[in-house]
Amino acid sequence: MTTPLIDSDHMRRVLGHFCSGITVITALGADGRPVGFTCQSFSSLSLDPPLVSFSPARTSTSWPLIRTADTFAVNVLGAGHAELSHQFARSGTDKFRDVRWAPGQFGAPILTGVTAWAECRLWAEYDGGDHTIVAARVLHLHADTDTDALLYYRGAYHIPAPVR
Ligand SMILES: Cc1cc2nc3c(=O)[nH]c(=O)nc-3n(C[C@H](O)[C@H](O)[C@H](O)COP(=O)(O)O)c2cc1C
Repeated sequence: MTTPLIDSDHMRRVLGHFCSGITVITALGADGRPVGFTCQSFSSLSLDPPLVSFSPARTSTSWPLIRTADTFAVNVLGAGHAELSHQFARSGTDKFRDVRWAPGQFGAPILTGVTAWAECRLWAEYDGGDHTIVAARVLHLHADTDTDALLYYRGAYHIPAPVR
């Protein structure tokens, strides 16, 4: 049987019905400067060992710098962070301009005010078509339970509302 062709825009539109949070993946580059990119394709993967997963595009210019760092951080954006998400999605710009951050316990940049964060070390990389599937070992993690997450749904930002 032939493999049907799937239109990329159609696929993006349909799968945009799956709602997610948004993260910014950060690390210190070899020159000591922080690097990072907005990443929606994050998920919890394994408890034993503790692993998370996300998928950088093959075109990402930040991932080659992040993957060689000793540790990197997954920053889960909060409800007020839509502009931060935009800023870290602009390739080739000064993404850390006016962004406050501090090194975590393992040295990875933690963005100030994020809802949750995990410091990680690269575990494995797998072929994911035009993306790379990354599995990362969690070294340390923390959540601010008072802050709502920022959601991404059908190409737009949302904030959570409880169902009654
Ligand atoms: C809401 C949102 C989610 C995104 N999710 C991903 C993702 O999962 N993987 C990815 O590689 N890029 C994702 N991007 C796009 C990258 O953030 C964007 O291409 C970024 O500029 C790459 O920067 P870089 O070249 O510095 O790596 C997302 C962008 C937005 C706005």
